[in-house]
Formats: sequence, structure tokens, C-alpha cells
Amino acid sequence: MAKTAWSGRFSDVPAASFQEFGASLPVDKRLWSDDIAGSIAHAEMLASCGIIGADDGAAIVEGLKQIAADIEADAFTWNIADEDVHMAIEAELTRRIGDAGKKLHTARSRNDQVATDTRLWARRHADVLIRAARALIEAFEAQTQAHGSATLPGYTHLQKAQPVLLATHLGAYVEMLTRDITRFEHARAAADINVLGSAALAGTPHPIDRAATTAALDFAHTSHNTMDGVSDRDFVLDLIYACAVCQMHLSRLCEELILWSTEEFGFVTFADIHATGSSIMPQKKNPDFAELIRGKTGRVYGDLMALLTTMKGLPLAYNKDMQEDKEPLFDAVDTTLASLSVLTEISGALTFNVETMRVAAEGGFMGATAVADYLVAKGMPFRDAHEIVGRLVRTCEEQGRTLQELSAAEYQAICDLFDADIVEIVAIENIVAKHA
Ligand code: ARG
Repeated sequence: MAKTAWSGRFSDVPAASFQEFGASLPVDKRLWSDDIAGSIAHAEMLASCGIIGADDGAAIVEGLKQIAADIEADAFTWNIADEDVHMAIEAELTRRIGDAGKKLHTARSRNDQVATDTRLWARRHADVLIRAARALIEAFEAQTQAHGSATLPGYTHLQKAQPVLLATHLGAYVEMLTRDITRFEHARAAADINVLGSAALAGTPHPIDRAATTAALDFAHTSHNTMDGVSDRDFVLDLIYACAVCQMHLSRLCEELILWSTEEFGFVTFADIHATGSSIMPQKKNPDFAELIRGKTGRVYGDLMALLTTMKGLPLAYNKDMQEDKEPLFDAVDTTLASLSVLTEISGALTFNVETMRVAAEGGFMGATAVADYLVAKGMPFRDAHEIVGRLVRTCEEQGRTLQELSAAEYQAICDLFDADIVEIVAIENIVAKHA
């Protein structure tokens, strides 16, 4: 019979197909550096508490460091029969250092081990996400610096509403990304708790020092409840949720860029390196990358829904179902990171067609609210002003003219509250400046 970590209890092992079905190694080997960091902290604590000998502790730490170097150098053979990253590394450690390796798992279970590894991974990647979101904010700020004073139509219902500054439009995305960073920080803090020592679910009778592993792994807190310690995956959900909201923001941005790059809008032009052509239509320049980010948003939502559903109805404490947390976590983080980085490149290289935006801002009678506000300032009730300006717009529409093209005399013919300054008031730049 093949040797497993539990072979004492069993007369035989599952068929290869079952082992493959139960294995998480192909997915969770990504946790290797966190697994080794957790094991080193655990072994050093066991040695300093006298639970294992100092020699054994030193041999374990040395063996783990060598394994880390080999994995890093791609000189490590992963064996699917090891089931998961924890078993693979421990088995290899024992192959390398002998009996001392068998002492590493004292006062520990894979249940607190995997939770610790996942927390370390989530914490590290929350930081990477924060940096990636900051980079996109910086790309937006650089564009705002260069073209922020440009005016363009602001829309409600995707109908021209009031003119706005490009700085305001881009600034809205900076606000969203700033909130995303707050959410990543929250998810980071949720992960930043040491659960090592919870063991399988009930803690351990060995005289361990939990504060020592908390300090060694630089965790902000030590968990209080051993059953919650091994069965809590809220921190994973928090990070996936933060990714899902961020991805939703990126998707909205991509939708606008796609729309703005059409001939009908023409507000932006993608750099050639950030667009693709058509295999049949020679004239095409397609915003594939922005579309893909919009499309990938669906899978990140799916990741969130998948784990929420996996966790629903799980009795305390650890259940193997929870092994299904890694794929959605990795996928959500990978997808959001890739989207943030692609979009940062795209945004930095976008050309804003400022003149097209300005011309568009003069259409659609977007000065109408400003004209009504003007009459209100002269003492007219808003509803009456709305009525008069509505008539003005109708006249302009019939004559194919804009509010900017009317003379002061034409305004005065409609209402004697208009003074000569009305032609200045309706200039797009002046309307926007007044709102700033
Ligand atoms: N591969 C497992 C996971 O990701 C590790 C924990 C296994 N624990 C157990 N009692 N079978 O969840």
C-alpha cells in the first residue's frame, strides 16, 4: 500500500482518480512561500518553547529554506500524490532531513496551516492590488494635469445633460479607485490575524506560544477562537468582494472608453498598440482590451458568488469544501490585477480629442440650465424660467441654431430680464467655470 500521512488507520488508499479529484496541489502550490514562512515560524516557536529540540528546529528551518530555494529556482518536483502544498513540502522535508521533519507538524493541523497560508497570501496580494490601483490613479492624474481643463458633454440617461470639465469626469474614477483602495485595506486587515495554534479545531495541549508566531509572521492580531480560526473565510470573501467592486468600476470606465472611441463620439483615440484590427474589415480599429476587461468582470462576480455559495451551510469547523476557496481567490486577484495594469497602460497612452469634445459640448442645448439659472438670479421663479428657456430651445431647434449662436437682442425679445451679458453666460467655458 502506498504510504500516506494517515496510513496507520487505513488498509488501502483511494484510486488514483480519487486522489486526483481530491488533490489541491495544482492550485494551492501557489501558496508555497507562505506555507514555508508559516512552517519556519511554527518550527522556531516549537523549538523555543522546548516542544521540539533546538537541533531539530534548526534542521527543519534549514531544510525548509533549501526547499524554498529549489522551488524558487524551478528545481522542485511536485508530486500529485502529495495531495496539497502542505503535504508536498512536509514530505520533501522529511525526505531531506529525516526524522526531524516528522516533528514539524507537532501542535499543528493542516486546518490552521492552510488558513494561515491563505491569510498571508491574501495580505500580500491586497498590498499588490493597492499599489496597482494607485498606479491607475496616477495615470488619471497625469491625464487630468494635461487635459483636465477641456470641456465635454456630461450625460444623464446617456443624453447630453450639462457641460463638464474632463477633470471632473476623470476625477469621478479617481474617487471610485480611492474607495477601492479603502476596500483592499479593509480586506488586508481582515486577513491580518494569526490563527496558527487553532490546530484541527480545538487548539493543542502543547505549551505553544501563539504570540511568538504572531510576531514572527508580522500579524497584527492573534485569533481568539480556535473553531472560528480554522473555519473563517470571511477575509477571502472580503478580498474577492473588493476585487469585484473594483472590476465593476474598471468595467464602467472601459464602457466609456469604448463608446468615446467610436466615430460617433470621437472623444478619445486608443494608441495603436492598445487596439486590434479586423481579419476582414481593413478599416477597423477595435478596443479589444477594454472590452476584455469589461467581459472579465463577469468572472470576478462569479468568483464571489462561488465562494459565498460554497461557504453557505457549512457546519463548524473545517470541511473539505473549503479547499474550493483558492481558485476563486486566485482568479479574482489575478483578473483584477491584470485589468488594473492593462488599463493603467491604456489610460496613460490615450489621446483625448479635446476639440471634438468641445464641439460636442456646444450641441444638445446643454447651456439651457445655465440660462434658466440666470433668469432665477434676476428674480424669476425657477419653474417660469424653465418654461421660457424651454421655448427658447424649441425655437433654436426649429432654426437649427445653438443657444450660443443667439444674439443678446434675440434673448431680450423672449424675456426682458436678459441683459447683454447673457451671450457670455452661455459660453460653454463660462458655464463650466461657474460650476467648478
Ligand atoms: N488542501 C486543504 C485545503 O485547501 C488543506 C486542509 C486539509 N485539511 C483536512 N482536514 N483535510 O483546504
